[in-house]
Amino acid sequence: MNTEHVTALVTGANRGLGRRFAEELVGRGAKVYAAARNPETIDVPGVIPIQLDITDPESIRRAAAEAGDVNVLVNNAGVSTRATLLDGSLDDIRLEMETHYFGTLQVTRAFVPVIERNLAEADGGAILNVLSVLSWTHPPTSGAYAAAKAAGWALTDAVRTELAPKGIHVAALHVGYMDTDMVTYVPADQKTDPGVVAKLALDGLFAGEPEILGDELTRTVRAGLSSPPR
Ligand SMILES: NC(=O)c1ccc[n+]([C@@H]2O[C@H](COP(=O)([O-])OP(=O)(O)OC[C@H]3O[C@@H](n4cnc5c(N)ncnc54)[C@H](OP(=O)(O)O)[C@@H]3O)[C@@H](O)[C@H]2O)c1
Repeated sequence: MNTEHVTALVTGANRGLGRRFAEELVGRGAKVYAAARNPETIDVPGVIPIQLDITDPESIRRAAAEAGDVNVLVNNAGVSTRATLLDGSLDDIRLEMETHYFGTLQVTRAFVPVIERNLAEADGGAILNVLSVLSWTHPPTSGAYAAAKAAGWALTDAVRTELAPKGIHVAALHVGYMDTDMVTYVPADQKTDPGVVAKLALDGLFAGEPEILGDELTRTVRAGLSSPPR
C-alpha cells in the first residue's frame, strides 16, 4: 500500500507502542485516528483522537461509525496482569482474554466491513495485530498473558486466510520486551525502543509480510518452534 492513501486507526494510541505507531503513521503521510479509552489523554500532533474501549461493544460500534474511512487497523491495545494460571485471580485471567483475544476480535469484526468499503479508493487494506514473543513461549509467571497472546496468534492466522480473498492483508507483530509502562519492572538493557519496533512493523505490514519479528529474542524463539516443549 502507498502510505499516502492510508487512513489508519490505532488502538491504545495514547501511550507506549500505540503512540509510536500513531506518530510513525503521521510521519509517513497517513491520516490517523488515535483511539484510546480516554481520548483526552492523546497528545500526538496531527492525529484525530477517538474514544475506543476494545472490550466495550457500544464503544466499538461508535468508533467504527465515526472512523468510516479507515483502510488500515492496528490492533495494539493490551494489558499485562502477570496473573499465573493456577493461583492468579480469575478476573485477571479473563481480562487478558477479554482484551487480547475478544477485544481484538470484536474490533476486527467491526472494522472489516469499513476496510472493505474503502478498498477500491485506497490501494488495499490491512490489519496489524500486536502479539508477543509470549505467543510462542509460555512462562508460568505470565501464564494468563501468554495464553491470550497465543489465542491472538491463532486468531491472526485464521483471519488472514479468511480475508485474503477480499484483498485485506493481515499481519502479526511478535516482539519481546519494549520500553513502555507495561514492563517498568524489566531492566532497561533488556528492552527495545518501541519507536524502532513501530517502524519495523509498519515496514513489514506495507511490504505484505504475514509475520513481523520485532527483536533478536523473538527471532530465536521463532526459529526454535519445532523443538519439543520444555
Ligand atoms: N511492552 C512490552 O514489553 C510488550 C512486549 C510484547 C508485546 N507487547 C504488546 O504491545 C501492545 C502495546 O503495549 P505497550 O507496551 O505499549 O503497553 P502500555 O504502555 O501499557 O499501553 C497499553 C495501551 O493499551 C491500552 N488499553 C488497555 N486496555 C484497553 C482497552 N480495553 N481498550 C482500549 N485500550 C486499552 C492502554 O490504554 P490506557 O492508557 O487507557 O490504559 C494503553 O494505551 C500490547 O498489545 C502489548 O501486549 C508489549
